[in-house]
Amino acid sequence: MSSSRYHLLTVSKLVNETSDARSVIFEVPPSLRQKFAFKAGQFLTFRIPKNGEHLLRCYSLASTPDEPMLKVTVKRVANGVVSTWAVNDLKVGDQVEVMQPAGIFIPKSVSGDLLLCAGGSGITPIFSILQTALKQGSGNIRLIYANRDQDSVIFKNELITLTEQYPKRLEVIHLLDSVSGIPSNHLLARLAQPFASTLNFEGAFICGPAPFMDSMEYALESINLSADKIYVERFISLPNEKIAGGQATDVPNNRIETVTQHSNGASDTLIDAVATIELDGQTHNIDWSKQDTLLEAAEKAGLSLPHSCREGMCASCMCEVKEGQVQLRANEVLSERDLKQSLTLSCQAMPHSSKVHICYT
Ligand code: FES
Repeated sequence: MSSSRYHLLTVSKLVNETSDARSVIFEVPPSLRQKFAFKAGQFLTFRIPKNGEHLLRCYSLASTPDEPMLKVTVKRVANGVVSTWAVNDLKVGDQVEVMQPAGIFIPKSVSGDLLLCAGGSGITPIFSILQTALKQGSGNIRLIYANRDQDSVIFKNELITLTEQYPKRLEVIHLLDSVSGIPSNHLLARLAQPFASTLNFEGAFICGPAPFMDSMEYALESINLSADKIYVERFISLPNEKIAGGQATDVPNNRIETVTQHSNGASDTLIDAVATIELDGQTHNIDWSKQDTLLEAAEKAGLSLPHSCREGMCASCMCEVKEGQVQLRANEVLSERDLKQSLTLSCQAMPHSSKVHICYT
């Protein structure tokens, strides 16, 4: 009873984007193309063997869904075991275990106007959304892109090419700390305001380091942009990449997440349950103790469910509750709207009714 979401992909190309950021391009064999189909804004999880154990790390996709390959861009993190390996040691021809794309930092539509806001390597998912919207949509895009200095701008040349290709639709505003200091909330609000009030406005997408994201969110709130138009993908840089005792306790480093902060605390109304789980065209019935999350209960039953962070932060484990009730121990990624649509996180879901039917789509 197992379902592996990890597949070996071969590195077909490596591109040094800056002195500490490198794009890793995977060739996807035809047999895996369907499994690795993705939406702009999603991420891949790497499973890297280390000292007889495995480290899981998530990296946003920078390529677009219509390209035959997958590209992630990795920035070296101080003392980061996996990021240092990816930037310094990974070679063309190496094989990496990669999980199918996941994540919900995805525009519902790319037909309207978009405000894209990136800080540093937060450009990665933003770049995928940007290129996809330019190719598939017809709206205007303003990209606010903050960096330390010129040399740390990832995709500098590609952005120049795109602005030449779409002069009427794309405007890129670079903010460099080395030139004008850290951008103030007031400046960010001024840059966002005229754009965010267009009739055709689809939404604002933000990704980058925490201080940039906080400033950007504050700026957008200060111009009264409705919360349901703001999408946030938060990078979490842990001080140390954890070396875990196998899959069960791995925590990803370099990411992630949220759309809207939301959390349901566990309560004393949890009950032992039977879970019916639909996964990869098969149905499994398992015992689900009220002490365990759905992910833990499935692992005890020998069933492998998709997951990455195990912290309620990445949505890799997202599934739908078709019948019954669950309670989330923590949730930093699903919005109220997602929860109303019966979406849940298996890594945080606790049983709240005696029968629960779960479906992975
Ligand atoms: S595994 Fe990341 S939210 Fe569940």
